Amino acid sequence: MKEKHVTWHEGNVTKQDREKMKLHKGAVLWFTGLSGSGKSTISVELENALHAAGVHTYRLDGDNVRHGLNADLGFSDADRIENMRRIGEVSRLFVDAGIMTLAAFISPFQQERDKIRGLFNDKEFIEIHVKASVEACEIRDPKGLYAKARKGEIRQFTGIDAPYEAPISPELTIDTEKESIEEAVQSIKTFLVKNGYLIV
Ligand code: ADX
Repeated sequence: MKEKHVTWHEGNVTKQDREKMKLHKGAVLWFTGLSGSGKSTISVELENALHAAGVHTYRLDGDNVRHGLNADLGFSDADRIENMRRIGEVSRLFVDAGIMTLAAFISPFQQERDKIRGLFNDKEFIEIHVKASVEACEIRDPKGLYAKARKGEIRQFTGIDAPYEAPISPELTIDTEKESIEEAVQSIKTFLVKNGYLIV
């Protein structure tokens, strides 16, 4: 921290108070995976399902956050690390607000994902590996970015000329080459119910 003369000012309304009002826990569902693996699609569909079930949600998505808060960041390792750090902090605020937060970012580095996990209490950070091979993502190429990366029009593209470190022990793995979006949504919902997130 650059500024030394700053102290934390505690409020009176706690996270637990907010969760009681909402009848569900605040947590972050952290979707990590290659571009085109299905992170955004799954998080959008899951948010629909959770919202319909009365869960207060908010979705943070790489492409969207990079239009605003992180518009100053590119795709160097250092910028991706800063991208994750900021999103981790934003997620922490949302979780403190008692919101079921859906964060969908490539977030390619294990060490940085672990750092974000470290910001949360036990069980508040749910790492979900949205798994699909580079080959499958390249065939899907929903934004045409793999084609551009192959032509050298985009540099440092994850999976082509920038690394992706798959999670070592994620809470959930969704293999989008095998599972449909509906199945993925169902298995995440089941996880949340089984582990007591949806009823405080
Ligand atoms: S991260 O690596 O820093 O976590 P983030 O999830 O925020 O990435 O943004 C990824 C999105 O940015 C991709 O889905 C894609 O649309 C776009 N993008 C643009 N350039 C790149 C690149 N060089 N590598 C990966 N994604 C890129």
